[in-house]
Amino acid sequence: MIHQMFSIPIGIYDIGSDRLNQGLLEAIRMNPINEAGVDFFKRSHPAIDELRTLFLQAATEMLNERFPEFTPTIKNGWANQHPSDQPLAPHAHPHSILAGAYYPQAPQGCGDLLLQDPNAGSMWANYTDGPYQYMVYQRIQAKPGRMVLFPGHIVHSVATSTVREPRVSIAVNFGVQYK
Ligand SMILES: [Fe+2]
Repeated sequence: MIHQMFSIPIGIYDIGSDRLNQGLLEAIRMNPINEAGVDFFKRSHPAIDELRTLFLQAATEMLNERFPEFTPTIKNGWANQHPSDQPLAPHAHPHSILAGAYYPQAPQGCGDLLLQDPNAGSMWANYTDGPYQYMVYQRIQAKPGRMVLFPGHIVHSVATSTVREPRVSIAVNFGVQYK
């Protein structure tokens, strides 16, 4: 008997509205992007409150599958603005049970999220169209209103944008507490 094992849960939620996206862009404009040491979710804005709730609802659903005794908490979050010709190098968030991103602005071609297969480098994996040789990805299109959550140990990167309009994303790290 042959079993396929080691599957990884990835959450993809197309849940944002134009109103939420415009509110988040306004909240980002009111404060410098990538301001060092500032937790995006500690700012006060109705759109940030809404996104915090959506992130926690999605993380709760993902954790309940495997860890029903845990409640997710947001450790920190930050806003990113990526112009064209700036890919994001492969990295992980190893101290977070879940990490994620939400896109308030993501024009077509702005740079998809590339989630690296933990078996990358293995000839058993299915190779896709990632930019790094011998790495195996699931390519997830960046689009407005989309939220993506994944276990923090998953190495990920962002493909180079091919358009002028920047991609704006809000990244987040989750911890847990016992219920
Ligand atoms: Fe990341």
